[in-house]
Amino acid sequence: MRKRQPASHPLSSMRERVPDLQAQDAPAEQRSWPRRGERQGWRESGRERACGQREMSRQVRALSPNPSPASGRGETRLSLAALLLVLTLIPFAANATDAAVITRQGNGKGAAPCMACHGVDGGGMAINGYPRLAGLDAAYLQKQLDDFANGSRANPVMQPNASALSEDERAALAKYYSALPLPAHPAAARPDAGGERLATHGDWSRGLPACTQCHAPGGVGVGANFPPLAGQPAAYIAAQLRAWQQGARHNDPLQLMRHVAQQLTPQEIDAVAGWFAAQPLPAKGSAP
Ligand code: HEC
Ligand code: HEC
Repeated sequence: MRKRQPASHPLSSMRERVPDLQAQDAPAEQRSWPRRGERQGWRESGRERACGQREMSRQVRALSPNPSPASGRGETRLSLAALLLVLTLIPFAANATDAAVITRQGNGKGAAPCMACHGVDGGGMAINGYPRLAGLDAAYLQKQLDDFANGSRANPVMQPNASALSEDERAALAKYYSALPLPAHPAAARPDAGGERLATHGDWSRGLPACTQCHAPGGVGVGANFPPLAGQPAAYIAAQLRAWQQGARHNDPLQLMRHVAQQLTPQEIDAVAGWFAAQPLPAKGSAP
């Protein structure tokens, strides 16, 4: 009954999570259940799921205080009740833990702990130019992880991380970070006046629209397509603009950002990046 999963199977990471789930969620009498790798059936397709359930009910029966073959009906009912309880609780527990565990421990298959670079609160690390993820739109975050994995966004640090995540894990992580509250924004560097003009007016003599036309006033972002720039590290914003100029990042819809970035001089990139980095994050509770 125990099925061997290929190493890249999204469920194989569950083996690593099992001890965690047992410690946190299982009632004391179930802590020894299930053993490593024996619970992989529950998220599978219909047929496999049924197999998984049979396996589980076998295990739940084995857990009952008196697992004699001659066990009576009452006991079977008890086992079924326990099984139902387990079936309802575990998927939620697993989903909730999934992303959080990866952010702390990685996924054991090559994805590093996200918080090492993006911070415990998802606030990023300005000094190293690591972006904030907390409070960004989930669909945007997921797209970026997919883009790193498919190479339309080239980056030597994030590509291996994103590629080592399964599609489910990428979706779960995007949701997780999107739901985190906006972190407190550290005292901003002085915004650059030249940067402000470009950000809020653009330069129509060059056909350059204001950044805030797409990224919203103050750069707080709009929905899934236009990410927030406010409070992102200046080094990060500048690196993205250069990446578009050089073609390392070519994942923007309709090449909107490529067109913008190609017009900018190195001085303008630094100025506009400095201005957005100094903008306050939107008030807590309001969607960025
Ligand atoms: C070793 C440091 C490091 C680790 C670990 C790391 N990241 Fe990143 N992350 C970066 C850097 C650097 C960038 C900016 C890449 C670029 O310039 O394109 C980034 C960018 C991102 C972005 C794009 C954000 C945006 O606004 O477009 C997402 C999403 C992301 N990381 C998610 C994750 C997740 C999820 C994990 C954990 C599985 C993770 N990162 C682990 C360093 C790291
Ligand atoms: C016509 C619309 C438009 C304009 C104008 C525009 N952007 Fe963007 N920008 C986008 C879109 C769309 C994306 C998301 C691309 C993607 O999906 O990866 C983006 C993404 C970005 C990112 C990446 C953010 C992240 O989290 O990785 C930066 C940095 C950025 N823009 C800076 C600027 C700056 C600076 C200006 C002005 C000089 C500007 N943008 C003007 C549409 C625009």
